[in-house]
Amino acid sequence: MANLKTRYMGLEIDSPLVAGSSGLTRDAAGVARLEGAGIGAVVLKSIFEEQVTHEVDGMAGPGTGVDAHPEAAEYIRAYGTAHAEENYLERITESVAAVRIPVIASIHCVQAGKWVDFARKAQQAGASGIELNVFVPPFDASVDGRQIEQLYIDIADSVRRVVTVPVSMKIGYHFTGMANFLKALSGHVDALVLFNRFFRMTIDTETMKLVPSVPYSEKHEHEISLRWVSGLFGVLGCDIAASTGINSADVAVKMILAGASAVQVSSVLYQGGVDSVGTINKGIAEWMDRHGFSSIEDFRGSVSRNYSTNQSQFDRVQFMKFSVGHE
Ligand SMILES: Cc1cc2nc3c(=O)[nH]c(=O)nc-3n(C[C@H](O)[C@H](O)[C@H](O)COP(=O)(O)O)c2cc1C
Repeated sequence: MANLKTRYMGLEIDSPLVAGSSGLTRDAAGVARLEGAGIGAVVLKSIFEEQVTHEVDGMAGPGTGVDAHPEAAEYIRAYGTAHAEENYLERITESVAAVRIPVIASIHCVQAGKWVDFARKAQQAGASGIELNVFVPPFDASVDGRQIEQLYIDIADSVRRVVTVPVSMKIGYHFTGMANFLKALSGHVDALVLFNRFFRMTIDTETMKLVPSVPYSEKHEHEISLRWVSGLFGVLGCDIAASTGINSADVAVKMILAGASAVQVSSVLYQGGVDSVGTINKGIAEWMDRHGFSSIEDFRGSVSRNYSTNQSQFDRVQFMKFSVGHE
């Protein structure tokens, strides 16, 4: 039987499947359930930097729109606003005591600031790594791309200065010159998680108000991540975890073929239950057996863009195949 053991951000994991940060990784019970199902590692529910700096009060309450934001609303309900920091550290300690898999703490942040010392406390509480969930929305037309990119690098550096455990960063794909920037950023972290699925909104045409869209991803959404995992494998100086739309063994295998060291799952755990972990692990192992691979490293990155000898032609040929097939 194929061996699913692998390494992600320097951590030994028994399966490349990592539970992405969500309400399902909020406490020790949830983390233990995921371990029982066969997950390789978990990323705990995020703490918001505003919770650490006690600047969250204005974020909650009627009219603030927090309920439209699943990450924020869940977070505030889970930890409250008063003792968020202590509560979160307790959740780390309890989770670490309950399982043997790596437990990665998650901090949702938009700038380097006085919250950074919290990363050191998270390490002291037993976290095996820190995932930084960073989203600086590029909406401000007066701020240029380089200023925004520098924020990501400053955040990574400031956290790495206070911890010795590995640090990853989960990001979106709203950057210009993305390969160039992510290559630079990869020198400041142990892994990049490509990509977060930020909360989406739509307009209710009856009330004429902005309303939250579906919080869960669909399978086809994996294709944006797949393109970039494939394009950045061998280019980045850090590990890659694929994220968004990974809801089956088939998609997980694609991400590993493209070059991912780990695949993060969240929506599938909500929609298919925690037992989906076992189904996906089994599917990956059966695929490996069928193709004669005994370890993840035997095939990781073998269908990446970097593996192709003539990369610009690779892009062009993929496009030509598509357009010729659709005349
Ligand atoms: C209900 C819910 C809560 C989430 N909360 C967080 C969070 O606190 N921090 C975070 O980094 N990501 C959070 N996410 C995003 C997921 O970790 C993941 O990046 C995203 O859902 C894409 O993966 P998926 O397609 O497997 O769901 C949340 C997602 C869902 C559905």
